[in-house]
Amino acid sequence: MTALRVRSCLGAVLLSAAAFADFGDPLTGLTAEELARFEAGKTEFSTAEEPDEGLGPVFNEAACVTCHTGPGTAVGGTTQRMETRFGRLRDDGTFDPMPELGGSLLQDQAIGYVSVEAGSYTYVPEAVPPSQPGELRVVARRRTQPLFGLGLVDATPPSTFIGIAIVQAILSPSIAGTPSVVPDPSNGGQPALGKFGWKAQVPSLFVFSGDAYLNEMGVTNPLFPDENCPQGDCDSLRYNPALTSPNDDGSGVEKFNDFMTFLAAPPRGARNFVTEYGNIVAGAIGCLDCHVQTLRTGANAVAALNKVTYHPFSDFLLHDMGALGDGITQNQATGRLMRTQPLWGLRTQANMLHDGRATTISEAIRAHDGQAASSRREFESLGAFDRYALRAFLESL
Ligand code: HEC
Ligand code: HEC
Repeated sequence: MTALRVRSCLGAVLLSAAAFADFGDPLTGLTAEELARFEAGKTEFSTAEEPDEGLGPVFNEAACVTCHTGPGTAVGGTTQRMETRFGRLRDDGTFDPMPELGGSLLQDQAIGYVSVEAGSYTYVPEAVPPSQPGELRVVARRRTQPLFGLGLVDATPPSTFIGIAIVQAILSPSIAGTPSVVPDPSNGGQPALGKFGWKAQVPSLFVFSGDAYLNEMGVTNPLFPDENCPQGDCDSLRYNPALTSPNDDGSGVEKFNDFMTFLAAPPRGARNFVTEYGNIVAGAIGCLDCHVQTLRTGANAVAALNKVTYHPFSDFLLHDMGALGDGITQNQATGRLMRTQPLWGLRTQANMLHDGRATTISEAIRAHDGQAASSRREFESLGAFDRYALRAFLESL
C-alpha cells in the first residue's frame, strides 16, 4: 500500500517535472550526452572573457550572461540591458550604417590602457558621432531578448515560416509578414531565412553565437574572424593585446549554440476560464495572426527537438510596424520592418518592445502601428470584460 502510494507520488512528481521545465532549465528528455553539452554550454555562456583571451578592444559586456539573465537568476533570459545602434539617412532615403565610424552597433565599453610591443594605447568606449550639418542621424535603442525555447525555433524548417507568410498573404493580406532573407556566413554567405534578432537579421543560433561573440564581446571566431575597428579606426587594432587570431577556435561558438539549442521554452503561467476566453479574444482581434500560437519542429536527430509542438506566439516574420519601427536597416528589414516578438514568457517582462518603451501590456499594444494598427483599434474598442480577459491571458504567458 505504502509502496504503491510512494510510487504514484513519484510518478506525479516526475510527470510535473516533465511538463514544467522552469526558466533556464534544459529541454526535458535530453540524453545524458546532450545534458552534459547543455551544462558545458551554460558554463561558457556564463564565463567572462579577459582582454588577452580576446575581449574587446571595444565590447558591450564580457559575458553573454551579463545581459541574458532573468527572471531571477535563470540563465538565458534578459536583464533588459539596452544597446545603441546608429547610422544616417542618405539623400535618397536609404540607410547608411556608417561602418567607417563604428556603426551600426555601438560598443559602449573598452579595455582601456594597454601596453604591448607596438607601444601603449588607451582604448575608449564608442560614442554616437555628432551629426554633420544637414545630416539625418538615426539612433535606436534595442533591448536584450530572452533566449528560452529558441532551440525549438531553430529546429523548425524555413518552409513553415514561408508557408505562414503565404497563408497570411491569402487570408489576411493587410497583416502579411515578409520572410527575412539574409546571408548565412556558416554556409558561404548563401541566402537563408533570418529568424533571430529584432530584425530577423540572423539565420540560426549557431550564427548568432559567432555574431554575438564578436559584436557584444569583441571575440573573433571562425565565423566572424575580423575584429571590430573601434569607432571605425582600424589602425588602432595594432595595440590589441589578444594573443591568438581568431581569438576563439570555434569551440566557444559551439558551446553557446549547445546551451541555447537545449534551453527549454518558458513555462506557461496558470490558466483558467478567463485566460482561455482571453485567448479567444486575442484571436478574434487579430493578435494571433502575427503572434502565431502554435508551431512544430521538423525531423531532428535530438529526440527532444524531433517533431515537437510548441507555443511561441510569433511567426518570426517581418512586419511593417509604422511609427514603431526603429529606423535601422539590416538586410531587407528597412526602418519600419520589425520581427514579431514571441509572447511566451511575457509575464516576466518588465519592459516590452524593441526599445523597452512599454512597461505595461496596454502601452505595448497602443504602440502597435502600421500593419498592426487595425488590431490595435480593435483592442481599443473592446468591452470591459473582453479587455480584462485579454490582459489575463497575456499575463498567463
Ligand atoms: C551587452 C548585452 C548582450 C550580450 C553581452 C549578449 N547579448 Fe545577446 N542580445 C542582446 C540584445 C540587445 C539582443 C537584440 C539584438 C538585436 O536584434 O539587435 C540580443 C539578442 C540575442 C539573440 C536573439 C534572440 C531572439 O529572440 O531572436 C541571441 C540568440 C543572443 N542574443 C545570443 C547571445 C549570445 C550567445 C551571447 C554571448 C556570446 C550574447 N547574446 C551576448 C544583448 C546581449
Ligand atoms: C502585424 C503583426 C502584429 C499584430 C497584428 C500584433 N502584433 Fe504584437 N508585435 C508585433 C511586432 C512586430 C512586435 C515587435 C515590435 C517592436 O518591438 O518593435 C510586437 C510586439 C508585441 C508585444 C511586446 C512583446 C515584448 O516582449 O516586447 C506585445 C505585448 C504584443 N506585441 C502584443 C500584441 C497584442 C495583444 C496584439 C493584438 C491586439 C498584437 N500584439 C498584434 C507584431 C504584431
